[in-house]
Amino acid sequence: MTVHIKTDKLVKTYPKPGGGTLFAVNEVSLEVYAGEVFAYVGPNGAGKTTTIKVLLGLTHPTSGTAEILGGSIRDREIRRQIGFLPEDHNYFSYLTVETVLDFYARLFGLSGSARKNTIGYCLDMAGLLDRRKTKVKHLSKGLQQRVGLAQALINDPAVLMLDEPASGLDPLGQDDLRKLIMHLKDQGKTIFLNTHDLADVERIADRVGIIDNGILKAVESISEITGTQEGVVVKAEPIREADHLKPIRAIATKVETDEEYTYIELQDEGMVALILPLLKKADSRLVNVEQKRTRLEDFFKGTVTSRGDSWVGPLPGRKPVKGDPPEGDQG
Ligand SMILES: Nc1ncnc2c1ncn2[C@@H]1O[C@H](COP(=O)(O)OP(=O)(O)O)[C@@H](O)[C@H]1O
Ligand SMILES: [Mg+2]
Repeated sequence: MTVHIKTDKLVKTYPKPGGGTLFAVNEVSLEVYAGEVFAYVGPNGAGKTTTIKVLLGLTHPTSGTAEILGGSIRDREIRRQIGFLPEDHNYFSYLTVETVLDFYARLFGLSGSARKNTIGYCLDMAGLLDRRKTKVKHLSKGLQQRVGLAQALINDPAVLMLDEPASGLDPLGQDDLRKLIMHLKDQGKTIFLNTHDLADVERIADRVGIIDNGILKAVESISEITGTQEGVVVKAEPIREADHLKPIRAIATKVETDEEYTYIELQDEGMVALILPLLKKADSRLVNVEQKRTRLEDFFKGTVTSRGDSWVGPLPGRKPVKGDPPEGDQG
């Protein structure tokens, strides 16, 4: 597999305001393959944007290396093949959508009909054809985000770096964004996607890297995490008496009870019929039967130890510790 993005023991530190050193990125080694959608996920302040910034040469690494397309971002030929949607990009808001794109097209040396066609194509891709004459500042946040996307596509990049592209988009806008990303993937582009949104990750990413407090905790393929496994899980009202549990255990591959439910794992759906009379005996009502699978969210909760934000929710019982991102840091 061709590697398009590679970091090796990448470290980026910042001095902490009160003294000491903050490891924004801490020995991150990762590889992103040509043509894949790689989701880079973690709580606010985890180090996602910093990683992108180092890869794009916007800030120097403290140690370690970062490569794109097998070389350095300082190489002009490589830079030409990168598209970037930054986290905040409300620059040029007083210009029209078309003028902004025209600026970037000129920056990449496009002229004449090539420039005109490219701008038209990018407007179309981002769903902005009818807004070309509108000033950016008059667009909704979601549409401004699309201008950023159109801008990132202007050089027909082989590698796209998207930093929280779904931020500010309503559900419909998010849906459009997913379709656009899938379309770009179909064109063979490599997409590095910083995101909070687990639904996005589950639907469009091939692999996910989880970063937490600067440390890359896991890199996994989505299908391996969420792929359905053999068997079903019967959820029922809690059963606690050993006498009732015993015959269930004899049939099930696993039985677990928490405060609300008993979960009974069975090798196949056909065995549910054997469980039903046992539930009845135990005076426990069946809640549902589901295909056995790992939810991406559970995988995250199991991987991320630092204070989560909205997508994971504050992890219960965990007190802030030294090295946590500052309160209210929105990354
Ligand atoms: N220029 C900077 N100076 C000092 N600290 C920074 C700077 N940029 C980022 N940080 C800190 O580095 C950590 C990682 O930030 P960032 O990469 O923006 O996280 P994310 O994008 O995952 O939310 C955070 O604790 C952040 O406050
Ligand atoms: Mg960020």
